[in-house]
Amino acid sequence: MTQNHLRFFDTTLRDGEQSPGCSMTQPEKLAMAHALEDLGVDILEAGFAISSEGDFSAIRSIASEIRLPIITSLARARREDIERAAEALEPAHKARIHLFLASSDIHLEYKLKISREQALAQTAEAVAHARSYVDDVEFSPEDATRTSHDFLCQMVAVAIEAGATTINLPDTVGYSVPAEYAAMFRVVRERVPGADKVILSTHCHNDLGLAVANTLAAVEAGARQVECSINGIGERAGNAALEEIAAALRVRADQFPVEHNLNLERIYATSQQLTRTISFGPAPNKAIVGANAFAHEAGIHQHGVLSNPLTYEIMTPASVGVPANRMVLGKHSGRHALRSRLVELGYTLQPSDLDVAYRAFTELADRKKSIYDQDLINLVAHHQRHE
Ligand code: KIV
Ligand code: ZN
Repeated sequence: MTQNHLRFFDTTLRDGEQSPGCSMTQPEKLAMAHALEDLGVDILEAGFAISSEGDFSAIRSIASEIRLPIITSLARARREDIERAAEALEPAHKARIHLFLASSDIHLEYKLKISREQALAQTAEAVAHARSYVDDVEFSPEDATRTSHDFLCQMVAVAIEAGATTINLPDTVGYSVPAEYAAMFRVVRERVPGADKVILSTHCHNDLGLAVANTLAAVEAGARQVECSINGIGERAGNAALEEIAAALRVRADQFPVEHNLNLERIYATSQQLTRTISFGPAPNKAIVGANAFAHEAGIHQHGVLSNPLTYEIMTPASVGVPANRMVLGKHSGRHALRSRLVELGYTLQPSDLDVAYRAFTELADRKKSIYDQDLINLVAHHQRHE
């Protein structure tokens, strides 16, 4: 694996599943895990073993069946969590325990009610305990972005010293901005002994709509694992969306000289499978996988796309597995789009007939928000009857 290999860590089945409207049954989680394996994710976070019997058995069944990705379970930095995670992961071909412990003062004081010294001791003990079960241990200082750099570096150093192999620096509350998030990675790389021997990872929440931008900024600053979810599902406003990160890396490869294992053509099918499984789908204007992501209504845009899709599309729909671009006919559409749709429906009109049809179409579009194929068929039939 080269230094420029970027690992995709998918948390759809953990951070995603724990958010409202996203609960999945064990068979649904297993089916999603197969889809994520086909998509090519490197690490699949299957759940939080100690949180429930259901999550424990879902992780176990995923660990038994899914062979290619590393399977991981989340665990607090506590013995009982680590032991439960290790038990759930027993059947895994490749297993990782993902530990987290808060690092910010606000979390230490009000949530955990422990001192910084206690947090450091707990980190060392938990990482060493997890390493007694698996060679692959990830450590996340929770709320890293609201932690002083000095203390963050101390905690990361303790985790590495105790045997952590991946250090994830989460923007737990979606508070950071790209330049600041990138700077935190540079500080850790420069100041922490051994940071060059571990993989640094991003984990961004979308409270300010910056999760993907922050993730990409950290990749530029040397992160080589990105934690993300399909359709961006996750706590509150969600996690960084896998499909957006992957598409940005492809379209702007000039900015990100990294390679990865994802098969981008599987993105749309995976997104659709998740939509069928949980209780909501992506917003229509959601990048890459939303219903309008490759739809064009404005006449100037439609004309351009019909002549050459690159005029208004920065990637082909097929490159992310979307069946085709969609010309939406409405009051903003031009005659090129109308002619093209009529041809698809089997009508090739003479220029003068097209003029008449186009006038009738714009009148209709002013009255009616959506124009369906049947409206166009009626319109042409009406015109032919009155010729
Ligand atoms: O957002 C977060 O901090 C998390 C950790 C458990 C990694 O999800
Ligand atoms: Zn999270």
